[in-house]
Amino acid sequence: MLSTRFTELVGCDVPIQQAPMGLISPSGLALAVARAGGVGTVSAPLGVQPQELAAQLDSWMDAGAGALAVNFITEQIDPEAVAVAGARARMVDFFWSAPHAKLVDAAHEGGALVNWQVGSLPDAVLAAEAGADVVTVQGREAGGHVRGDTPLLPLLTAVLRAVDVPVLAAGGIAEPRALAAVLAAGAAGARIGTRFIATSESGAHPEYVLALLAAGPEGTEITDGFADCPMCATLPRARVLRSAIAAVAAVEGDVVGTLPSGDGEQPIPPRAGLPPHKQVNGRIDAMALYAGSGVEHVTAVRPAAEVVRELAEGAEALLRAW
Ligand SMILES: Cc1cc2nc3c(=O)[nH]c(=O)nc-3n(C[C@H](O)[C@H](O)[C@H](O)COP(=O)(O)O)c2cc1C
Repeated sequence: MLSTRFTELVGCDVPIQQAPMGLISPSGLALAVARAGGVGTVSAPLGVQPQELAAQLDSWMDAGAGALAVNFITEQIDPEAVAVAGARARMVDFFWSAPHAKLVDAAHEGGALVNWQVGSLPDAVLAAEAGADVVTVQGREAGGHVRGDTPLLPLLTAVLRAVDVPVLAAGGIAEPRALAAVLAAGAAGARIGTRFIATSESGAHPEYVLALLAAGPEGTEITDGFADCPMCATLPRARVLRSAIAAVAAVEGDVVGTLPSGDGEQPIPPRAGLPPHKQVNGRIDAMALYAGSGVEHVTAVRPAAEVVRELAEGAEALLRAW
């Protein structure tokens, strides 16, 4: 078993956190990862009211399910909602805002650990100073919104020298060798998003999954081409499939698809930052197909538990061999 400072702190079996991905990472995916020994993560909806979040989490969270985390993004976070998550989840997770002790304290009050994902050395130091129990460093290889511009390995090594808390590595890790490499470099685990999009429990639209499987090497790029979203309002940078950048450039008109909403369908404009989940209709190929640079290793849809097992067992075997 791959035991690290992260697994010991959290009380899980494998040093893998499945990244939060909005509706691409529904509760079923998080539960499958947690039951397989990793940390399963869901996203708190933007601007969610504390009572609404409590009802949502109570509808599926199960104390015996393993380690679960709830993610909050942007500066618009209600500390009461954080406290609600902290009272229910093993870990509360933050990204895309400056580390803040008030939010860390709100999560700790409920008894949860705090993980703060950062894209730079100064933010990693601020996160540790704010009281985060775990810092995740996101390299520019990552799928989705990319906070910094440093490749993972230099950022990881700089942060490991600067903070004492366990550090997770994120960005482009989609197969055992990359997991083994960051563990060998001193990371206490990995936060993995893209690999979990191609799982049986993922919420991704099937055409999004097929586009990932078809991507191959050099298939992704950081762009401001899907900047119509709350995160891009502060910093328009996200890594997506190159095919989506080309496809949206060729779209004519001001609607690329629709999304069920209330009693009708809400139009989705081209350049919207919404990754297409199963309820989305329209030109899926021209939407925000977020993907990390490890996408070439995503070659089959598998149950999430198998993905966790293969990554962990493969990395352990490599580390022993090395
Ligand atoms: C489809 C998608 C959606 C994402 N949404 C979020 C999010 O809502 N909150 C967050 O903290 N990170 C989000 N991320 C970024 C992840 O936290 C993580 O940094 C990234 O997935 C790691 O790179 P990888 O995808 O190459 O594994 C998202 C990533 C992807 C691929």
